[in-house]
Amino acid sequence: MKKIIIALDGHSSCGKSTMAKALARAIGYIYVDTGAMYRAVTLFAMRNGVFTEQGLDAVALEALMPQVDVKFKLDSETGLPLTMLGEEVVEQEIRSMEVSSRVSPIAALPFVREAMTGMQQRMGEQKGIVMDGRDIGTVVFPQAELKIFVTASAEVRAQRRYDELVAKGESVTYEEILKNVQERDYIDSHREVAPLKQAADALVLDNSNMTREEQNQWLLDAYRKAAE
Ligand code: DC
Repeated sequence: MKKIIIALDGHSSCGKSTMAKALARAIGYIYVDTGAMYRAVTLFAMRNGVFTEQGLDAVALEALMPQVDVKFKLDSETGLPLTMLGEEVVEQEIRSMEVSSRVSPIAALPFVREAMTGMQQRMGEQKGIVMDGRDIGTVVFPQAELKIFVTASAEVRAQRRYDELVAKGESVTYEEILKNVQERDYIDSHREVAPLKQAADALVLDNSNMTREEQNQWLLDAYRKAAE
């Protein structure tokens, strides 16, 4: 089997990262969650007063970008990557509703995308990587040997996200989550730089009615075909 790059793109909350992690573990590849990188930049922006009453101060963020140090550290217990901002583990903070509702405008900024894309390309130099995001098969690795575009209905995705947040003890309503999912879909698909769109040569995985086991098997089959 040759070492390849696997690009997994798709809508938010469609279980991409869960399945990408499972695939990476099954085949011994490195897993990179690029959404976590945009979330970490958003947390940095929130902490540094970039969101003002007048809105997002992109000029201020651009000036602060050299200080944004996003990286991953492997959790010694789970073997999974933890998102870091400088030396601080921010894996929990970046999943909050507040970060979720502020990340899309940050991810739409060209200078933020340029910085993250460069880092992601360096992470993939050795191949053997499963990278999940929105523009991995189209912008970051247009030459990836395997591209998968994952999708599910907005209602199914909102329900999954709602269950996840409630399990974590956050007080949210299904309606606000659905609205957030729909808004993010819109911004992610309509922004000028690297919008979410299916690469022409991507395989589509609609998991609205699939079990986790079915998805994992589907992915393994796709990997075997692409890497043989
Ligand atoms: O996958 P996620 O929900 O954690 O992603 C968070 C946000 O980052 C989402 O609004 C889309 C954006 N994103 C992006 O623009 N490009 C990527 N490669 C990954 C995520």
